[in-house]
Amino acid sequence: MADLRIQFAGIQSPNPFWLASAPPTNTGYQVQRAFEAGWGGAVWKTLGEPILNVSSRFAALSFQGQRVAGFNNIELITDRPLEVNLKEMAETKKRFPHHVLIASLMVEPKQEKWHEIVKRVEEIGVDGLELNFGCPHGMAERGMGSASGQVPELVEKQTYWVKEVAQTPVIVKLTPNITDITVTAEAAVRGGADAISMINTINSLAGVDLDTWNTIPHVGGKGAHGGYCGPAVKPIALNMVGECARNPRISVPISGMGGVSNWQNAVEFMLMGATGVQVCTAAMHHGFRIVEDMLEGLSHYLDEKGIASAMDLVGKSVAKYSDWGELDLNYQVVARINKEVCINCNKCHIACEDTSHQCIDMLQEADEKKYLQVREEDCVGCNLCSIVCPVEGAIDMVEIPSDLPAMSWNERQAGLGFK
Ligand SMILES: Cc1cc2nc3c(=O)[nH]c(=O)nc-3n(C[C@H](O)[C@H](O)[C@H](O)COP(=O)(O)O)c2cc1C
Repeated sequence: MADLRIQFAGIQSPNPFWLASAPPTNTGYQVQRAFEAGWGGAVWKTLGEPILNVSSRFAALSFQGQRVAGFNNIELITDRPLEVNLKEMAETKKRFPHHVLIASLMVEPKQEKWHEIVKRVEEIGVDGLELNFGCPHGMAERGMGSASGQVPELVEKQTYWVKEVAQTPVIVKLTPNITDITVTAEAAVRGGADAISMINTINSLAGVDLDTWNTIPHVGGKGAHGGYCGPAVKPIALNMVGECARNPRISVPISGMGGVSNWQNAVEFMLMGATGVQVCTAAMHHGFRIVEDMLEGLSHYLDEKGIASAMDLVGKSVAKYSDWGELDLNYQVVARINKEVCINCNKCHIACEDTSHQCIDMLQEADEKKYLQVREEDCVGCNLCSIVCPVEGAIDMVEIPSDLPAMSWNERQAGLGFK
């Protein structure tokens, strides 16, 4: 059996699956039940002030039958007094000494405020700290959350202040609401961060009610932007993790999150450089027990691949993730339709004819049976036909061997004398 344990910035975790700081980690009751269910760690719902919230708070995007394809919220940090949270955190750590308990913190960008909160939470024996520089609403108006997280100097300075007093590893949680997340990730590293985590939620408005013209959600007829997460944001999160992982100036471990819903997603994040994952929306949608499938699935996957430890997955795809200018311009794939499997629905033909390169023909056999065929010499290998095809295995994208040597845009420009 493969070893699922991970070491994250010096923190030992029984497995790579942590609950993210959010409603599932609001109380000791919840976190203890989560640990019983199998979660390896939990980042407690962000501690800080002020204690306030609005009703209602959540909205979700259903897409063609899939509930909660994306999730939107305007909730703030914890709505419980610090003393209550600290007491329950201490009890939880005592009951589950081998599970990971991280305190998520958000205070005003003042040195003494950071020093005070760090000392208070470390007294109760947490395994690490996560600085919430990501919350996109409510707190940002007071200079906290993403308002801090969007300014590299503030990220660096506040991380530094925390590191002045912290005894446990410091994880800086980054906001995706920024042009280039590596800039703030580098700032966190300069400030002394032991690790970074990403992504917090993405600025969003879930919808507008066609009858009332109210925003969704609304608070007594008024709305404000919220934070988007869940399966829909996974590609954005994965790119941000990959961009940080391949940046040589960001040499600290990454905790990946944003749309992780199953073990396969977790493996993707780990291959792209995350040492472990955090989960919020999937737990809110399906409950704590989804971790059972995650543990079993990851374990089988590692065994089947003959990989001894989950740690061996970390970063294995990073070298394969590069800039567009490094891609081989002479590499070529074409679509090939499998006549035996194709149901002649014509979706590929329409997609190619209307919006791509017009290279799928409807032909007729001698017995008048119709079939679709790709004119390979005109196919650019865009993948669109295979993407819209509803039948698994009906269209393969196959590599066409090239006589030409590999040649990237960067190499071509260099050959032409451009820098
Ligand atoms: C309702 C809700 C409340 C959240 N509250 C916090 C919070 O207090 N602190 C924090 O760092 N992130 C908070 N988050 C963000 C999550 O921790 C996580 O970064 C984000 O949801 C992406 O993960 P997911 O796609 O698995 O949900 C919250 C998310 C949701 C949906």
